[in-house]
Amino acid sequence: MPGIETQDKQQYVAEMFARISPRYDLMNSLMTGGQHHRWKRLTARLASQGLTGPALDVATGTGDLALCLARRPGIQPVVGADLLPPMLALARRKARQKGMDGRVYWAAGDALALPFPNNTFACATAGFSLRNMPEPDGIAGALREMVRVVRPGGRVAILELTPMTGGIISRSFRLYFHHLVPLMGQLVAGERAAYTYLPRSVDRFLEAEALARLFRELGLREVGYRRLGCGTMAIHWGVKQPL
Ligand SMILES: C[S@@+](CC[C@H](N)C(=O)[O-])C[C@H]1O[C@@H](n2cnc3c(N)ncnc32)[C@H](O)[C@@H]1O
Repeated sequence: MPGIETQDKQQYVAEMFARISPRYDLMNSLMTGGQHHRWKRLTARLASQGLTGPALDVATGTGDLALCLARRPGIQPVVGADLLPPMLALARRKARQKGMDGRVYWAAGDALALPFPNNTFACATAGFSLRNMPEPDGIAGALREMVRVVRPGGRVAILELTPMTGGIISRSFRLYFHHLVPLMGQLVAGERAAYTYLPRSVDRFLEAEALARLFRELGLREVGYRRLGCGTMAIHWGVKQPL
């Protein structure tokens, strides 16, 4: 990952997302053929089903997943938290355009030190974010924070790209992801570096089974996951142990 070993990853990631924020939604829709909306709706459903009360979307970016949570029955209020003010400004504008002002609160917050008390939320989600946490302990650190702020009996759900190994789909996807996506990033967002970082960060991320194991190590129960997008991504979930 160019530059990442010599810089603090948190700072590298923050600067990168600040640069790509204006084209972030467009690139997501182009890269996934618009499918990311469906995956986010499913993540919100898996996180919240059977639960009522407040919900949190961590590293919310432009706020899609927070808005999906806000549409779930019995889920209110919703908080979308992110490190970066430019991302939160886009999220706020999107909520206003969709007439969802006042149903989601946007908050500045670091996933590694969430500014919320223990046992606050019925559920917490994070989409395409864990990969970007500082290594080596950022992934566990962010998950631990999500578990901390969720109520006993509440749920944590993660939507994330997942490394693939072997097989024709994996080889085709790697070709697309490592060659075409950086080119799209350059042409559409004027940012080849960010969209070169993206596939490399997936290669370094936990495989689906290892992420499920981490959920269990952090005390979550009823852990499960579902692969999506021909196995290129997964939604993981787990329930915080009731008192
Ligand atoms: C790939 S985007 C994902 C945005 C959104 N969740 C989605 O699904 O489209 C990653 C987001 O994580 C945010 N981020 C990175 N590090 C963070 C941290 N330590 N705490 C909170 N947000 C962070 C970035 O600002 C960016 O908005």
